[in-house]
Amino acid sequence: MSKSLQAIRGMNDVLPDDMALWRSFSAIVEAWLERWGYRAIRMPLVENTALFRRAIGEATDIVEKEMYSWRDELNAEELTLRPEGTASCVRAAIEHSLVYDGPKRLWYGGPMYRHERPQKGRYREFYQYGAEAFGFPGPDVDAELIVMCARLWPELGLKGIRLELNNIGSAEERARHRADLVKHLEAHEGKLDADAKRRMHANPLRVLDSKNPLVQEVAAQAPLLAGYLGEASLAHFEGVKKLLAASGVEFTINPRLVRGLDYYNLTVFEWVTDALGAQGTVCGGGRYDGLFEQLGGKAVPGVGFAMGCERLVALMKENPDRIPAARPDAYVLHQGEGTLEVAFTIADALRRAGHAVVMHAGGGSFKSQMKKADASGAWLALIVGEDELRAGDVSVKALRGGGDQQRIGRVRVAGEFAAILEKAKA
Ligand code: HAM
Repeated sequence: MSKSLQAIRGMNDVLPDDMALWRSFSAIVEAWLERWGYRAIRMPLVENTALFRRAIGEATDIVEKEMYSWRDELNAEELTLRPEGTASCVRAAIEHSLVYDGPKRLWYGGPMYRHERPQKGRYREFYQYGAEAFGFPGPDVDAELIVMCARLWPELGLKGIRLELNNIGSAEERARHRADLVKHLEAHEGKLDADAKRRMHANPLRVLDSKNPLVQEVAAQAPLLAGYLGEASLAHFEGVKKLLAASGVEFTINPRLVRGLDYYNLTVFEWVTDALGAQGTVCGGGRYDGLFEQLGGKAVPGVGFAMGCERLVALMKENPDRIPAARPDAYVLHQGEGTLEVAFTIADALRRAGHAVVMHAGGGSFKSQMKKADASGAWLALIVGEDELRAGDVSVKALRGGGDQQRIGRVRVAGEFAAILEKAKA
């Protein structure tokens, strides 16, 4: 026997029992995105490596060590499986001049790829839904995107997802802060570990995230970005906070919230839960007013978020009444000479009338067929035995809830089925 093959580590199969929940999650999220005026866009899973290097930033974890990149020898191109959607979405907007006639609200969904160490809630292939608003400079759309999420969580049946917010200012303000921060880190270089020393010049803000207690000590004394923010940045953030307050959306300001991608300015935010262990961020986003220009386009402001579908679906799973049962309406059994053809055409007629019908296949005793009918979760069993065949009838048995077994004329089944089903579900 040859050795069986397995899925790639950190890349998941979603089996039929879980797909019901995934599809109901997707249906709710997609309807919600459209309701808020966002229009669907789809970008390729593969892009030029340079796109992500430029958009996400050379010194980020994603670009430094998490991208699935390779050289396509056939075309002599450097390619990467997308680790996120914002870069591709902006690339597409520039390439197709999507904002030439005014601002746009867009959404996308699909798999993203990051070569991270897999653990609960952290995968190498994971799904995101993302929303991006292009061409809106004001704080109102930052607030819109945040309030939108606040309204989604209850629709998904989720509680206890809290909002963390920060204002990271403009590139110039960050540069001034950064210069002072580097000075501070240099003055305490003796206490820094190798990782912090390496990052100190490339990405000093990330040094502040260090888990090393000695480095944390240095970080605690470091100058705060908040002290470097000018009037315009402060006013923008005030505008966001005002609309959140008007909408009754609570938040905490987290001055340490810097996000793992370099394209952000002004508003950044994360939605976090304690119910998932270490991987508790279910959604993250913010403003990225410099990204269009950085990718070769005209200056167009941007703001958006992306949510991690695996994490949200895992939260929904903890609330089992929200899990929709994927039940067929009927399971059709048959036993005896000539019954298969009749049962087969009844199933066909019901499906054409819009019902979900599973046809028993593979023979077996009446008892074993009934067991399969029950296991299918169907509301009703339709039985065509030799008796029914002779009389031109079908027996209908409710498998869930109440109701006696009844017999109805075969020709009436399609017409009366909807009413019988409704009674069975009541
Ligand atoms: P991000 O914070 O890198 O942002 O990812 C967004 C969300 O995707 C995270 O909050 C998390 O729920 C989920 N996620 C990220 N990595 C993994 C993983 N390895 N396994 C499972 N879930 C994961 C972005 O991707 C930005 N493009 C968001 C954005 C859009 N900013 C502006 N517009």
